[in-house]
Amino acid sequence: EEIKVFCPATIANVSCGFDVLGLALDSVGDEMMVRKTAKKGIHITKIVGQNLPLEADKNVAGVAGLALLAKSDYDGGFEIEIDKRIKPGSGIGSSAASSTGAVWAMNELLGRPFSKLELVQFAMQGEKLASDVAHADNVAPAIYGGFTLVRSYEPLDIVPIPTPPELFATVIHPQIEIKTSDSRKILKTTISMQQGIQQWGNLGGLIAGLFQNDYDLIGRSLHDHIVEPIRSILIPAFDDIKANAMEAGALGSGISGSGPSIFALSKGEEIAKQVAESMKNTYQNIGVDFDIHISKVN
Ligand code: HSE
Repeated sequence: EEIKVFCPATIANVSCGFDVLGLALDSVGDEMMVRKTAKKGIHITKIVGQNLPLEADKNVAGVAGLALLAKSDYDGGFEIEIDKRIKPGSGIGSSAASSTGAVWAMNELLGRPFSKLELVQFAMQGEKLASDVAHADNVAPAIYGGFTLVRSYEPLDIVPIPTPPELFATVIHPQIEIKTSDSRKILKTTISMQQGIQQWGNLGGLIAGLFQNDYDLIGRSLHDHIVEPIRSILIPAFDDIKANAMEAGALGSGISGSGPSIFALSKGEEIAKQVAESMKNTYQNIGVDFDIHISKVN
């Protein structure tokens, strides 16, 4: 028995929701083949596209899978093959794609004994291995689809948020690697009251805009005065990419997860394409290599 799954890339934080908000991309992701085996444990037999460890306890998919097995009464094991298309350290949830793909597929093969919330908890163990912190803002949207809010970590409370029908994401990845663990170390551990007020105002506004299909409100809310000013220093021409994306008609733009990818959200595919053109031109003019994707938020 085997199953092939698509493991979506995700944009965490989405400007105003550091560690609590994320969205899943429809057409960017990895593929994974998972099969049941009589041999116990998790066996990663093949990884195409990236040089990553095959040992289950050193691989995020393996660690997430082992967390699921520990809670299961199934006495066999699983074999996993990964077609890794998302580059690690790109800021679009590479580790989350692998850890969620593994537990999603295993749950399907076992007849769905676990809830989505439990799958998120298993996958968070993979995030802990990848970034030292078991953050859920990439794995939750990868499991639930669309936008998700991590309302609380203890206890874990995930709230799926509806996605307006015409919302598209453009994501550009300058070809440098930033480890999430490194880009967390540079953050301050406290914020001022004024920063808090701005941030929760925007987060509430963004959530309301998503519920009401109010694209203008979504755009007005896509700001981050806490993390972006610190992390953007690590990203080539961040301010220019963002300014040009806004000029091309994006609703808002910011750092995808812990970077270096930069995302923009747009109403409609046409504008998302124009935004992509402006981002491309910005990097081409200064000679920065990049990958770029347009995807529906789904
Ligand atoms: N919320 C996490 C961070 C996401 O920004 O560090 C990492 O993908």
